[in-house]
Amino acid sequence: MNGQPRKVDRIITPQAVTEGAGVKLKRSIATRTLDYVDPFLLFDHFASDNPADYLAGFPMHPHRGIETVTYMLAGAVRHRDSIGNSGTIEGGDVQWMTAGGGILHEEMPEPRNGKMAGFQLWVNLPARLKMMAPRYQEIRADEIPVAARDDGTAIRVIAGRSHGVHGPVTEIAAEPTYLDVTLPPNTSFHQPVEMGHTALAYVFEGSAGFGVAPQDDGSPARHPALIIFEDGDHVAVRTTESAARFLFISGAPLYESIARYGPFVMNTREEILQALKDLQDGTFVR
Ligand code: CO
Repeated sequence: MNGQPRKVDRIITPQAVTEGAGVKLKRSIATRTLDYVDPFLLFDHFASDNPADYLAGFPMHPHRGIETVTYMLAGAVRHRDSIGNSGTIEGGDVQWMTAGGGILHEEMPEPRNGKMAGFQLWVNLPARLKMMAPRYQEIRADEIPVAARDDGTAIRVIAGRSHGVHGPVTEIAAEPTYLDVTLPPNTSFHQPVEMGHTALAYVFEGSAGFGVAPQDDGSPARHPALIIFEDGDHVAVRTTESAARFLFISGAPLYESIARYGPFVMNTREEILQALKDLQDGTFVR
């Protein structure tokens, strides 16, 4: 593919953090190393075979001004919230939750066959939508289309488009692409990306060369690692002797000021103080 391949800007090794009521996570966005990558505010990877690492879960907590995207690989998350929704996100399912002006919810892990693994991404909302009514898009595993190539490459398309396949998550302000890509050994992958959009990959199995130009092998990254790309019109990835599985995520940056405090992400400090006051006054959920 000609055009302008995106080079690797940086590769981030996730940090071990404890969140919620004591859940052990690998965090690569919202750390001291990397505060945010506009419009992405946080990225967590959880994977454990030890229930003590996650069973305490995330008891009732608020969100305002953002979207939280939960994608499960194994195990499940039981959830319920202040607008009357409840359900279970099982392995392969996605929940794209737009918190908007305010939601209170609980997210409790439930292992399946002793396994628990998945991701949570926070996507910023533009100022004009921060106080919108909360909304959900819940997509079951069998509703997520797969672009399958003859060489064994499989791309689950959650949002955006890849190889002519469109994802079921739509009408998101950030115009996101969210793919789960499995590449066999000695395989290449090309993904067009809008110029100016932020693009990243998170490799969680195996290793690959990212940001591959025709004349080189790219920057090698081994799981777990977050890869952030420079600008360009496509991303290229190539495996050698090892297979790789990674998320590919892109979106339109907002270029707006960010004031963040825990689960609230607004534009100004006054709006954060208002969120805390609303919570105290019992007017947080409208
Ligand atoms: Co939450």
